[in-house]
Amino acid sequence: MQEQHRPLSIKGLTVAYQKKPVLQNITFDIPEGKLIGIVGPNGAGKSTLIKAALGLIPRLTGDVSIYGKPYREQRKLVGYVPQRESVDWDFPTSALDVVMMGRYGHLGWFKRPGSKERQIALECLEKVGMADFAGRQISQLSGGQQQRIFLARALAQDARLYFMDEPFVGVDAATEKAIITLLNELKKQGKTVLVVHHDLSTVKEYFDWVMLLNVKLMGIGPADELFTKENLQRTYGGRLTLLNRSDDAIFVSAR
Ligand SMILES: Nc1ncnc2c1ncn2[C@@H]1O[C@H](COP(=O)(O)OP(=O)(O)OP(=O)(O)O)[C@@H](O)[C@H]1O
Ligand SMILES: [Mg+2]
Repeated sequence: MQEQHRPLSIKGLTVAYQKKPVLQNITFDIPEGKLIGIVGPNGAGKSTLIKAALGLIPRLTGDVSIYGKPYREQRKLVGYVPQRESVDWDFPTSALDVVMMGRYGHLGWFKRPGSKERQIALECLEKVGMADFAGRQISQLSGGQQQRIFLARALAQDARLYFMDEPFVGVDAATEKAIITLLNELKKQGKTVLVVHHDLSTVKEYFDWVMLLNVKLMGIGPADELFTKENLQRTYGGRLTLLNRSDDAIFVSAR
C-alpha cells in the first residue's frame, strides 16, 4: 500500500513519435521530499517523460500515477515549469497574470481570482525577486526574468510535486542561486521536485537523487551512489568528455 502514496510512480511507459520510440519501458517510483535531477543527452526523452507524466502527450503503453491516482485527478498537487523554448512568449499578458494562472486550480468553477489570489501571486513574485515587474508584459522581460516568473507561477500553485524542465538554462549566477534556494525551501516543506538538469558539475551539489535517462532508464537513486563516471558514460555514450582530477571527475561538454 505504501507505494500508492508515492509522489510519482511510472510503470512500463513507452512513448513514440511517428512510430519511433523515444522512451522505452520506463519503470520507477520516487520517494517524497527529495530534489531529483533528471540527466541525459539532448534528445534522451527528458521533456517527453515529463509531458507523458502530465498527460500532455499520448503514451503507447504504461501507467503513470501521482500519489496513487491518475494525473487528471491530481492536477492540484502538481506544478510544472516548461522548458523555455517551448513557451510562446509573445502572448499579451503581464507577469502578475502569468503567476495568477498558477492559482486557477485552487478556484472553484466560475470564480474569478480575487484580491487574496492577487496577494498570493504578488508574494510569489517577491520570492523570486520580480515584484517590481508585476505589471510588465511577459514578452518584455529578459530570458532569465521570464524563467523567474514561471517559477513564481509554480510556487503560486502550492503543489506537492513539481516538474521543472531546465530551469537553470540561460540564467545568470545570481538567478541560479535564487532558484536553488527556492528548491531547497520547497524541499524543506516536504515537497518533491524533479528537475531536468544539464550541468553535470552541479548535480551532486544540487540534488539528493538523480535519474539517468537515454531513451531507456539507465538508473535512478541517491546521487552519491549513482552519479559515477561509469554510469554517466553509459548514459551519454561517446558524447561525454571527462576531465579527470584524482577520483573526483570534472565532467565537461556532455552534449
Ligand atoms: N513533437 C515531436 N514530434 C516528433 N518527435 C519529437 C517531438 N518532440 C520530441 N521529439 C523527439 O523525441 C526525442 C526526445 O525529445 P525530448 O524533447 O524529450 O528530449 P530531451 O531529453 O528533453 O532533449 P533536450 O535536452 O534537448 O531538451 C528526440 O529525438 C526528439 O527529436
Ligand atoms: Mg528537453
